[in-house]
Amino acid sequence: MSDGQRIFVDAILRCCRARGIACEVRSQGWLIVMHRGERRHFAFGYDLGLNSAVAHRIANDKSATAEVLANAGVGCIPHTLFLGPKLGKPAPAEYARAAMLDLLRAHPQGLVAKPNEGTSGQFVFKVTSEAEFDHAMREIFASHLALAISPFVEVEDEVRVIELDGDPRVVYSKQRSSDWRHNLDFGARPILLDRGEARDACVAMARRAAQAIGIRFASVDIVRVAGEWKVLEVNSGVMMELLGRHHPELVYATYEAALDKVFE
Ligand SMILES: Nc1ncnc2c1ncn2[C@@H]1O[C@H](COP(=O)(O)OP(=O)(O)O)[C@@H](O)[C@H]1O
Ligand SMILES: [Mg+2]
Repeated sequence: MSDGQRIFVDAILRCCRARGIACEVRSQGWLIVMHRGERRHFAFGYDLGLNSAVAHRIANDKSATAEVLANAGVGCIPHTLFLGPKLGKPAPAEYARAAMLDLLRAHPQGLVAKPNEGTSGQFVFKVTSEAEFDHAMREIFASHLALAISPFVEVEDEVRVIELDGDPRVVYSKQRSSDWRHNLDFGARPILLDRGEARDACVAMARRAAQAIGIRFASVDIVRVAGEWKVLEVNSGVMMELLGRHHPELVYATYEAALDKVFE
């Protein structure tokens, strides 16, 4: 991988070179323009353009994802949406705060508050008191318009499945370090799952989740709580930078397979 360049960009360049697809990298790699004959295709951020706009938006919205999954009968961790003061008027903000404190009372084991459209575990707070709650709200609303609240659950295991059109391309368990969050950015290590019951259960669940949202290429995070697997979140931008440090060839192959679907 070249210095500082994302493996996402490297994989696209490599794949385009092998297939005779012209490829221009713009905006420090954030925008990639590909041409094959008359056909022009973009990649943007971590988006290869395989997912519909609405599937992409639902996956990025934690509360919408939980709602769609619950509606389709796919087990998931509930995420309740609250708009911040920049979106709600002051009176609704007060109302929202009261509703959030009701949730806190209903869940003595605590809550998790996070940006509704967050990624990589930043601004994800465990909250067990009103003071912690106010701190989390201030931090989240300083840079985000809305937050999502879930009951805190004891996560026994967390697995990520990268799905492409119903196929599990990558399945790994996240072995966390000292932090309670399982994000690789916080030092969790990816352990690939080749076979086994956990893998089978997560692959089946990820497929159902992707189908429910109507998403083609996604990473689906699944947690085991009291022995039961539940979807925690779905990401439409498939980010594999940290996984790439451990398993670069797997990451290249996965992006290549997705890009082949684009030019099919
Ligand atoms: N309700 C919850 N109970 C326990 N742990 C949680 C809960 N929600 C999130 N986590 C932990 O925090 C991590 C980050 O939360 P997540 O919803 O994935 O946000 P992000 O999109 O920022 O990664 C998860 O990987 C999980 O380990
Ligand atoms: Mg996450």
